[in-house]
Amino acid sequence: MAMPTAAGLEDVVVGPTAISDVNGQIGQLIYRGYDIRDLARESTFEEVVWLLWHGELPSAKELGDFQRELAAERPLPDDVATLIDQLAARAAPPMTMLRLATSLLEVEDRGVRGIAPEEELRASLHLVARFPTIVARFHRRRQGLAPVTPPADTDTATAFLTMLHGAPPDPADSRDFDTLLILHADHEFNASTFAARVIAATLANVFAAVDGAIAALSGPLHGGANERVMAMLEAIGTPDRAEAYVQQILAQRQRVMGFGHRVYKVEDPRATVLRQICRQLGQRKHDSRWYDIAERVAEAVWNAKHLFPNVDFFSAPVQYMLGIPIDLFTVVFAISRVSGWTAHVMEQHANNRLIRPRGAYVGPAPRPYVPLSAR
Ligand code: CMC
Repeated sequence: MAMPTAAGLEDVVVGPTAISDVNGQIGQLIYRGYDIRDLARESTFEEVVWLLWHGELPSAKELGDFQRELAAERPLPDDVATLIDQLAARAAPPMTMLRLATSLLEVEDRGVRGIAPEEELRASLHLVARFPTIVARFHRRRQGLAPVTPPADTDTATAFLTMLHGAPPDPADSRDFDTLLILHADHEFNASTFAARVIAATLANVFAAVDGAIAALSGPLHGGANERVMAMLEAIGTPDRAEAYVQQILAQRQRVMGFGHRVYKVEDPRATVLRQICRQLGQRKHDSRWYDIAERVAEAVWNAKHLFPNVDFFSAPVQYMLGIPIDLFTVVFAISRVSGWTAHVMEQHANNRLIRPRGAYVGPAPRPYVPLSAR
């Protein structure tokens, strides 16, 4: 029998990566050596995607070319657009819709289904470019609205908000959303990225790995937490009811969504940045209600359990104030995280070995077969 390991692979180091690192003791997250707080303040989502894929920040020329390439790939193949329209008509869950659309993108992307580096980079570009179009089209269609033609001359954050709402966003909203995308782009061997790497390690292609990663992200212990956070804030309704609500949840031995983390022992640095954006957004929109409720919830959870908010906690009211529907919060997470998933698939394939751990068998010892007549 193989030796049992830590439940949930806690603290198990499964392989090297040069893409990102989490230091849970001091609350630091780096992408390729750059602190997430510096990237959030100084860079753009496109720079971060390039950084994750190529290991260095792009030059001005590389960035300009990359932005143009991304914009050129935003339009969807006809069959993918048709599938999204059908799924919108059937009120499909958004994460399921994204998974199905990703699978169909593979069918359409005949030239880049292999795992050669240049094919994989091209396929990754298609996925990062098209996820915003997919999500926005789905939402427009399910509201009975016409899809918006993907803008050709703007960044991912602005393009997404334009396609979602049918009008260009306030530049300050666009910048906040861009920062949210930067903060969600990668996070070492989190559950969905690990799932992607396990799939990639069988030499399956990037589409298959991203399909699996979307499935892993959908659960409430991972990316699905952000939608539940907003449902909680709405249920609480006013700051003065936060404390009692949290007490009630904890008394029922339920989890308060958006709190706790496997790796961070201090506040998640992404939550710190999003908390500030949440406060400023509230001021800009002249509605600090969601920020106020969120802070009261954080205070109550700290007093009761000494747990810190994670990335999903303040991302929920931020997305809400940017006019993003609650049931799209997790697909928005995927719009960003697909950049990290694809970086990890490329890194896995560059130095691959099958990921095949052992189970610690706890079933019955070997025993004689019992014929049907004797049972
Ligand atoms: N609410 C209440 N209690 C909690 C919470 C929470 N959110 N998180 C952890 N705990 C308690 C848990 O009950 C346990 O207490 P005890 O030892 O008394 O039973 C202790 O803290 C350790 O919990 P654990 O489940 O062993 O911790 P874990 O590392 O397995 O789980 C987690 C990490 C993120 C799944 C968990 O904190 C959780 O369920 N949080 C709520 C869901 C959530 O916000 N998920 C988003 C995660 S971060 C971003 C992302 O991946 O999308």
